[in-house]
Amino acid sequence: MARLKLAVLISGRGSNLQALIDAAAAPDYPAEIVLVLSNRPQAQGLAHAAAAGIPTTVVDHKRFAERALFDAELDRLLRGHGIELVCLAGFMRLLTDAFVEAWTDRMINIHPSLLPAFKGLDTHARALAAGVRVAGCTVHFVRPEMDEGPILIQAAVPVLPGDDAAALAARVLAAEHRCYPQAVRWIAEGRVRIDGSRALIDGVAPAHHILINPGA
Ligand code: GRF
Repeated sequence: MARLKLAVLISGRGSNLQALIDAAAAPDYPAEIVLVLSNRPQAQGLAHAAAAGIPTTVVDHKRFAERALFDAELDRLLRGHGIELVCLAGFMRLLTDAFVEAWTDRMINIHPSLLPAFKGLDTHARALAAGVRVAGCTVHFVRPEMDEGPILIQAAVPVLPGDDAAALAARVLAAEHRCYPQAVRWIAEGRVRIDGSRALIDGVAPAHHILINPGA
């Protein structure tokens, strides 16, 4: 069976990229990463892709006078590689509405909070400042409004006494690395339908456990 062709867009560390690389190494994984794009030449994640033998391209946003021209170059590369699903993984550029609309329902993002809470940056520090007891991550389809779009999967983790932003980020990140490959798998298996602002996933069992924190 043909595997779904993915592009992963990064700006930095690339640990979610690595999680996708690891998942796609399994012979039965239904998607393959055919291109890694970074807007930053020094992104660490580029080395992960190179080590896995995946072609990489840097599109340095600083070379483009306008956002639309940068996005047009991304679009050209994605189409040129026959990309079927775009995975944003720590990609730190806002995309134009025209680009997002061109890739509607074919572009997903991972965000380190339980959306719709804590959109934007510095999610962990803001979650700690707000005193939430449960944090987490979300994989969602991308829509023009930042950090909005039908949710594919979320994972919750507890906020623990003594957590600082780094400790909470690490706990959430471990959950991210499980969620992103799973969401891609469901899309590649053709299980996902979009119904208005919701994503429906056929044939997956709902989880029934409850995370209560602090525990009673
Ligand atoms: C992750 O926390 C992701 O949720 C957010 O940016 C971070 C990227 O980390 N969008 P990495 O580059 O995948 O390690």
